[in-house]
Formats: sequence, structure tokens, C-alpha cells
Amino acid sequence: MKAHEKNLLLQEKYKLTASFYDILDYPWERIYRKWRPTLVGDLRGKILEAGVGTGKNLKFYHEDVELTGIELSKDMLSKAEKRKADARCKVNLVNEDATVMQTINSNQYDWVFSTFMCCVMPDEIQKLAIEQFTRVLKQGGRFRLLEMVYSKNKAIRKRQDFFAPFVEKVYGARFDRDTLRHIEQSSNLRVTNTSFLKDDTYLLIEGTRV
Ligand SMILES: C[S@@+](CC[C@H](N)C(=O)[O-])C[C@H]1O[C@@H](n2cnc3c(N)ncnc32)[C@H](O)[C@@H]1O
Repeated sequence: MKAHEKNLLLQEKYKLTASFYDILDYPWERIYRKWRPTLVGDLRGKILEAGVGTGKNLKFYHEDVELTGIELSKDMLSKAEKRKADARCKVNLVNEDATVMQTINSNQYDWVFSTFMCCVMPDEIQKLAIEQFTRVLKQGGRFRLLEMVYSKNKAIRKRQDFFAPFVEKVYGARFDRDTLRHIEQSSNLRVTNTSFLKDDTYLLIEGTRV
């Protein structure tokens, strides 16, 4: 199956998921909402947020930021449009595929930022998104991605295995995506820091375009 066919399937999935995304995600969002202000609060300049979803990060950007938020699903994007009013910065939301970024010019962003998008993307197409991150970042521009991954702790892993079918069915997300390795294999992106926000399950990947 080609990349765009996989993305079409994901768009179909999110037609339904979008209508109850915020309700379904609520138990997890109670944790995430404590992280979001810190995750975006220090970002400045021109920022591309990929997979903006229902716009949960929008209100935490600093007022000096110029934000472009891209999102594959029109249904998710229309939810984010409603949250645009909460943002303190200039926001432009675009229905755009992160693996293509047809409407996004090269070498113009200070930051590429994303929460839980790459864990939704099949590994084969993540490389395409990483190529686009590289293309749109200025030289010296930075990236910060938060993804969920499998734990090495048996008890946590058991809980993840229990939720895995639900997480994949509803969000298209998986714990076994190999985002960090794909970025490390990219010749123009350098990982400068990795850390976990909770246990060894929420992986923050930060780096620079060289
Ligand atoms: C699990 S949700 C996370 C949403 C949001 N970032 C958050 O933190 O709440 C993943 C989002 O990534 C979007 N997405 C997946 N593949 C994408 C792609 N190729 N281009 C743009 N957005 C994509 C999905 O449509 C979905 O809205």
C-alpha cells in the first residue's frame, strides 16, 4: 500500500474519531495538559506544528510566535479552528499532509514541533515526514517531538498491551513506532537530547537541522 493510500485510511478513521476525540482522550489529557505549557512555552519564532489535532497546544504558545499548524484530517482541523481563539500568537491552520507539505515553503521554520503524530504514522512513511521536517526547517532550526513508546518495565508493558488494540483502532497509534531511529538515520537532522516525561513511555526527542 502506498503512503497516500495509508493516509487516506487514516483520514477515514479520523472522520469518526474526531467527533469524540477530546472525550476519549480525556483520561490521558489530564496528564498531557500538565506537559503542554512547558513543551511549547519556550518556543519562539516561526513554528510548524505537525498533526495539530484538535488544537490542544495552541493556547500555550508565546505571543511572539508565528505558528503554522498542519493537520491531515479536516475533521480534526475544524475542531482546532475553534481553539484558535484561545491562542495568544498568530496562527495559520492548514489541511496538509506532513509527509508531503505541498503548501509549505523550504528553509523557513525555526522549529518543527509535534505531539503524538509520529506514533500514528506507519514506519514506512515516517521517513517522508522526517524529510519534510528537514526541508522546511532553517539551517540550525530545531525540532521537538513527543511520542509514546513501549516500556521495558513488565507491568507497564502489560498495561500498554491491554490498551494497544484500542489505541490503534481509534487513533491509528502504536507503541512500537521507530521514530527515534528514523531521525537518527537522517543525515540532516541531529538528535541533541532524548528524555522521558513519564516512566519510559513518553519519549521526547529534540534536535537540530544541521
Ligand atoms: C494522536 S493525534 C494527536 C493530536 C495532537 N497533536 C495532540 O497532541 O492532541 C495525531 C494527529 O496526527 C494527525 N496526523 C497523522 N498523520 C498525519 C500526517 N501525515 N500529516 C498531518 N497530520 C497527521 C492525525 O490526523 C491526528 O490528528
